[in-house]
Amino acid sequence: MKHVLFLICTLFSFVLFAAETVAPPNDDESKVPKFELPDPLVMADGRKVDSVKMWTEQRRPELLKLFQEHVYGKPTLTEINMKAEIFETAPVFDGKGIRYQLQLVFFKGEQPLQNDPKVDFLIYTPARKNGNKKFPIFLGLNFMGNHTINADPEIRLAQTIWNRSNGQQLPAKDEERGKQSRRWQLETIFAHGFAVGTAYYGDFEPDFNGGIKHGVRRLIYKNGETPNPDDGNAIATWAWGLGKMLDAVTEFQDKLNIDPKKACLVGHSRLGKTSLWAGAIDERFSVVVSNDSGCGGSALSRREFGETVHRINNSFPHWFCGNFKKYNRNVNALPVDQHELVALIAPRPVYIASASEDLWADPQGEFLSAFYADPVYRLFETDGFGGVTEMPPVNQSVGNRIGYHRREGKHDIIEFDWIQFLKFAQKYL
Ligand code: GCU
Repeated sequence: MKHVLFLICTLFSFVLFAAETVAPPNDDESKVPKFELPDPLVMADGRKVDSVKMWTEQRRPELLKLFQEHVYGKPTLTEINMKAEIFETAPVFDGKGIRYQLQLVFFKGEQPLQNDPKVDFLIYTPARKNGNKKFPIFLGLNFMGNHTINADPEIRLAQTIWNRSNGQQLPAKDEERGKQSRRWQLETIFAHGFAVGTAYYGDFEPDFNGGIKHGVRRLIYKNGETPNPDDGNAIATWAWGLGKMLDAVTEFQDKLNIDPKKACLVGHSRLGKTSLWAGAIDERFSVVVSNDSGCGGSALSRREFGETVHRINNSFPHWFCGNFKKYNRNVNALPVDQHELVALIAPRPVYIASASEDLWADPQGEFLSAFYADPVYRLFETDGFGGVTEMPPVNQSVGNRIGYHRREGKHDIIEFDWIQFLKFAQKYL
């Protein structure tokens, strides 16, 4: 089955991008090239990083800058303001929870204008039974609109859902309600004492090459202007959006009964790449979870197993910064690799999840990022990856402040994954 899926992904990419020859994807471990990883604890000038102070003041900023320049791009939305309001509050699920719906409006200057970009932000908390304590929250973006995360008929339908393969605008439909509820296990989340907040990623920026004209970035690139090669692109925009969601939670923390110091990021696949980047740039997030994030997420680029840098840049030219494309045919020249992205989250707890049949995302490469980030967690005198050295059997959660599992099955985020994430976050919050 896994090979069939791999073949489908491969054929699909061939058909789409026949124009540029990209090497056929490899799913054979014995064909992984030999490579040398950059050492997260060695500065670009060769000095060894031997203290938390040196990491925090020198190496971390250096690495962050390298990732900005060569992979995800620099922040471009710093001058965008946000106005947030809670437009609805109601008890839900027979009194077991509370639903809050917020609207975030983004604008330049003093006041928003009529057509400025808007994002609907949906939050559920368990009913208010947490003593004096505010709830911790999982924050993540969704793929198909807030109304798809639960069958709750009161979730406001998105204005527009974007077809990501052709950029077409479609109306959100009632019959899609709850379609993705398997990926958003509200009952399980509540049972572990967590709130959850989500927004449609297409509200921040639709996910196709050209989506820049329709999301928040239309406020800064006017009249067909295009980003510089080191400007942030779609992933950077979505990651910025997660930070804005946390701003709104912080502003309304008393009304929402949520503790913004206990905010956990979660994301699946391209949104798992996004959660890692958001967690790296924004230290307010206390826990970071990425699920099946693969290439440009937690998988090591130098392994060139499954999806490669060349292929991802061809298939999704709008995700990473322009400079990332320089490495399409020479991934070893990249000044960073993805274990260093995980390390940028240190000493905050980070959890990486893979799925056994998701070879496209390279489970072994995802595991190795966790493994090679460990020395940075050790520098902080934490127990990092907890001495794990080998890929664990399926469905076994391992590690410590760096957590990892490889769920049996395909590319997805399901209850098993959520339970591990919740238990992991509980341990640290
Ligand atoms: C494609 C893409 C991956 C991505 C995934 C997803 O498979 O190649 O990089 O993670 O879509 O977001 O579902």
